[in-house]
Amino acid sequence: MKRIGILTAGGDTPALNATIQGAVVRANQLKVEIIGLIKGFNSLFNPRVPHVHLNPLYQEIPEIDPTKGGTLIGSSRDYVDPDKTGDLNQIADRLHRLGIEGLICVGGDGTLNGLQPLAERLPTVLAPKTIDNDLGLNYPSEPDEWVRVADSTVKGGFRYKRVESRAEYQLDQMVNYVTPGYATAVYVSASGVERIRTTAESHRRIAIIEVMGRHSGYIALGSAYGRPDIILVPECSLDLERLVERVKHIYDLQKNVVIVCGEGIVDEQGRDLGAESRTTDPAGNVQLTGAAEALRSKLIQMIGDRYFQLYRRGESAKEAIFTRKVGHTQRGGRPILFDRFYAAQLGARAVELLLEGRNNAVSILQYSTSAGFHVEGFDANRFRDRWGKIHARFMHPEMYDARLMKPSRMGIAYLTSIFTDAIGEDDMEHLRQTLFAAGNLTQPYHSINTDINKRIRYLPEPGS
Ligand code: F6P
Repeated sequence: MKRIGILTAGGDTPALNATIQGAVVRANQLKVEIIGLIKGFNSLFNPRVPHVHLNPLYQEIPEIDPTKGGTLIGSSRDYVDPDKTGDLNQIADRLHRLGIEGLICVGGDGTLNGLQPLAERLPTVLAPKTIDNDLGLNYPSEPDEWVRVADSTVKGGFRYKRVESRAEYQLDQMVNYVTPGYATAVYVSASGVERIRTTAESHRRIAIIEVMGRHSGYIALGSAYGRPDIILVPECSLDLERLVERVKHIYDLQKNVVIVCGEGIVDEQGRDLGAESRTTDPAGNVQLTGAAEALRSKLIQMIGDRYFQLYRRGESAKEAIFTRKVGHTQRGGRPILFDRFYAAQLGARAVELLLEGRNNAVSILQYSTSAGFHVEGFDANRFRDRWGKIHARFMHPEMYDARLMKPSRMGIAYLTSIFTDAIGEDDMEHLRQTLFAAGNLTQPYHSINTDINKRIRYLPEPGS
């Protein structure tokens, strides 16, 4: 293989540029050209296929900066519909005309589903990214636990359900232990929780902080580092009576409570709490945007004004309980050391997988107590259920202590393996040197897009 393509698909994460750099460095060593496709799959639907040569003369272009968040080649939520054979053939033809012999998609579970039909047309591999940490398996046999249940209310006439597991859960058995992007999202969320605490303390308030993660509770779990009192995860349905009891107990004691909730938390009936403002993105993912607000309404109703008036001299429950979303700050900005370091290795491994002929493989990050972290290749087919679908990974319930509403012993072991040395000294030094630099006040922000635009080339029309 002499020329390969790379694209970044789905929601951005802070470590994408590090993955791109890892891939480019390896491609340089192997004397392979690497072409960045602009805005994920969007570029492939465009007949002109906007693209950038990332390593002319086998040297990386200076815009590739692994410490910068986002992605220099842009991303989008466009996805490849496996039923649209015509589109797929066109995409393969465009890549062929660009001289691209293999493709690296940097993405999550949605991207991996999307690239399955593409991998039947040209060699394709996935390098993982997601802040949700939901790409992977809790154990290798997990895909076999999915069954289809007839349901006329959903598109296609069936929904997927998990049967009871027959596997014992052990951290060493996880496939793709952790994904670049997750550590930085936790770093931002935990810092946010820590900061909200002192204001909740001062004003005797109850703070509900919503973190991202869709239906996976990994970010919420990791926010434990910010020392909230209560963590609610989507994998464990809400027991409101118990929650109110716990909130009152803590409030009686310390006159403030900090609750973290994952955006995908569900009620006793398994319904999304944030479903009031339910919409879907282009790839069909449900956008969950109202969990903290919904929870707040329930607490206001169940705790009532009188309770707070006892402590807060006349203030109502509405005034005492407030919500904050960590929001897209979780996904943006400089990646911390852990993410940068392993993202680069995963990008490099993806190049090797292509060159080794491992079509439809995924570069994964593995962990064991004896060997530590290491990068491997894993066949994407092993992520698929009997019907070929790849499901987002749920955080295993054993990671969470539903009684304490906090990480369990297993959850703590998981988190410490990732976060103990996750922040580099340079991360802190960078903050010290750059945040209050005088130039920030005088010079306009210079966007990477401005520089990349100058490098974009287009595929000539056939026959031109
Ligand atoms: O999948 C990553 C993620 O950040 C989720 O945690 C979140 O629900 C979603 O993307 C938000 O997407 P968007 O930025 O498109 O609103």
